[in-house]
Amino acid sequence: MNQNPRSMIIGTGSAAPEKVLTNHDLEKMVDTSDQWIRERTGIERRHILEEGKTNSDLAKLAAERALKSAELKASDLDCIILGTITPDLSFPSTSAIVQAKIKAFNAAVFDISAACSGFLYGLTLADSMIASGLYKNILVIGSEVLSRMTDWEDRATCVLFGDAAGAAVIAASDGERGVLSTYMKSDGRLGNLLHCPGGGVSHPASHETVDQRLHYIKMEGNKVFKHAVRTMVDAAVHGLDLAGVRSDKIDLLITHQANKRIIDAVAQRLELPDEKVFINLYEYGNTSAATIPLAMDEALRKGRLNKGDLCLMVAFGGGFTWASALVRM
Ligand code: ACO
Repeated sequence: MNQNPRSMIIGTGSAAPEKVLTNHDLEKMVDTSDQWIRERTGIERRHILEEGKTNSDLAKLAAERALKSAELKASDLDCIILGTITPDLSFPSTSAIVQAKIKAFNAAVFDISAACSGFLYGLTLADSMIASGLYKNILVIGSEVLSRMTDWEDRATCVLFGDAAGAAVIAASDGERGVLSTYMKSDGRLGNLLHCPGGGVSHPASHETVDQRLHYIKMEGNKVFKHAVRTMVDAAVHGLDLAGVRSDKIDLLITHQANKRIIDAVAQRLELPDEKVFINLYEYGNTSAATIPLAMDEALRKGRLNKGDLCLMVAFGGGFTWASALVRM
């Protein structure tokens, strides 16, 4: 018997709210233009969660779709890992709320705060937990409602973000398919480049913190841009090295969807042609921890990713955090 089974992705699912906010809608809200947003970021639209719904509602939908595609019941799950920076509540965890909503009562649950790297951090943990032999079916979710943490008066950030959730079921693989390598890294010295100052115990919510707009995302876009390219290339190169695979063997690159110029720069450094790079930020914008599982699910459904394909997933996010996973689908 294999004591250290490789893990594999046996099902995926995703969900995005119906309501769409276009660049032209944003032109009426802040001093911006459709042309600027498309040229500087590639984003055309983003989906916004309706009032009254919350992160766990989106995560529940993605989770149920992933379970369906994996042909499993919620009771088959022994762990749920959820990456998010926009939890329903400070506590309990959003994963616990999702557990109750999908009735996965045999699962241990926890959230990961690694911003846009949250899904790949979760996949890395799930892979190790499967390899330990102690867990059989793990649901990894990336789910965000960034629209509730976005300053809709700040044109430098409000054009970038959207809401969505993606999920994958991870189980043991006994064949050639599965997770070939994972890589995670962080640098807490860069935290101030991309953060939300209010709401934690440093600046608990008060009239002053609301007046000072501290409960919104703050970002030094230019500096984040440079680190994004550097860290995603680092994660990609390390992930490939760990698996002993050359970049020309990759069938599809799925990077964190923050900015088309960032994705193009990473693909160029890896010498990958456009047809090997999946981009869906035109439609969703940056949905933080949800971008990778949302893109993977869409790539599978659209036939851009098929059984046996080699997929390199790479992300970076606030923290800073960065990560990669090389997966034979
Ligand atoms: N519309 C029109 N003009 C704008 C807008 C806008 N929405 N936003 C900024 N500008 C202006 C600026 O004010 C500036 O004007 P100035 O030259 O008169 O001062 C000019 O455009 C250029 O601004 P830059 O910030 O230099 O523009 P840049 O080309 O860097 O693009 C952007 C900005 C899109 C934010 C880019 O820096 C970027 O994508 N950075 C990375 C963002 C990212 O990946 N974030 C990850 C977040 S993920 C997470 O963890 C939540």
